[in-house]
Amino acid sequence: MAEPSPPPAPRPIIVERLTHQDVPEICGLFRRVWEPYLAGLPAEVQRAWQPTPLEFTSGMEGVTYFSARRDGKLVGVVGCELVDGACHLVNLCVESDHRRQGIGTALLQAALEWARHAGARSLWADLLPRFGDAGMLFAGEGFTEAGILHRHFWGEDVKQFERLL
Ligand SMILES: CC(C)(COP(=O)(O)OP(=O)(O)OC[C@H]1O[C@@H](n2cnc3c(N)ncnc32)[C@H](O)[C@@H]1OP(=O)(O)O)[C@@H](O)C(=O)NCCC(=O)NCCS
Repeated sequence: MAEPSPPPAPRPIIVERLTHQDVPEICGLFRRVWEPYLAGLPAEVQRAWQPTPLEFTSGMEGVTYFSARRDGKLVGVVGCELVDGACHLVNLCVESDHRRQGIGTALLQAALEWARHAGARSLWADLLPRFGDAGMLFAGEGFTEAGILHRHFWGEDVKQFERLL
C-alpha cells in the first residue's frame, strides 16, 4: 500500500519594507480591515483611516512600513515611527481571513528588529477598546499595558501598550 503523502508545508510569510508600488494594495487592505471598526467615529476620522494612495503616500514621511505577503498577496502591514527615541507602532493590521496564522507576530518582530537597529529604547502603541484582538497579540509579545488616556480619542479611552528594549 502507498504511504500517505505528508501534509503540505505551511506557505511562507514574507515580511519586507514597503515600497511605493505597494501603496494601492495597502489602501485596499485598509478599506477592508478598518471598515468594521468605523462606527461612531467622526467622518473625518473615517476618511483618514481609508486614505487614497495619494493621501497615504503624503502621510508616509517619517514612517517605516513593513508589509507581509503570502503567495504574493499583501495580507498585513505595520508602520514604525521613531518619536523622541521611542518607536511608535501605527496601522498594524492583518487581512481578516489570514488572522491567527502568525502574521501579526511576524510584523511585530520586524518592527522590533527595526526599532533596535534605529536605537529606540521602547516600542509602544495606542489601542482603542474596539481593537481588543491586538491587545492579546501585544500581551503575548511581551508588551505591557502602560496606562489609559481617558476620553482621549473622540470620547473613547485609549490604552497604551509598551515593550522596553
Ligand atoms: C490584531 C491583529 C493584527 C492580529 O493579527 P494576527 O495575524 O491574527 O496575529 P497572530 O496570528 O500573530 O496572533 C498571535 C497571538 O496573538 C493572540 N491573538 C491574536 N488575535 C487574537 C484573538 N482574536 N483572540 C485571542 N487571541 C488573539 C493569540 O495569542 C495569538 O496566538 P495563537 O493564534 O497561537 O493563539 C489582527 O487581528 C487585526 O488586524 N485586527 C484588526 C486591526 C487591529 O486591531 N489593529 C491593531 C490596531 S492598534
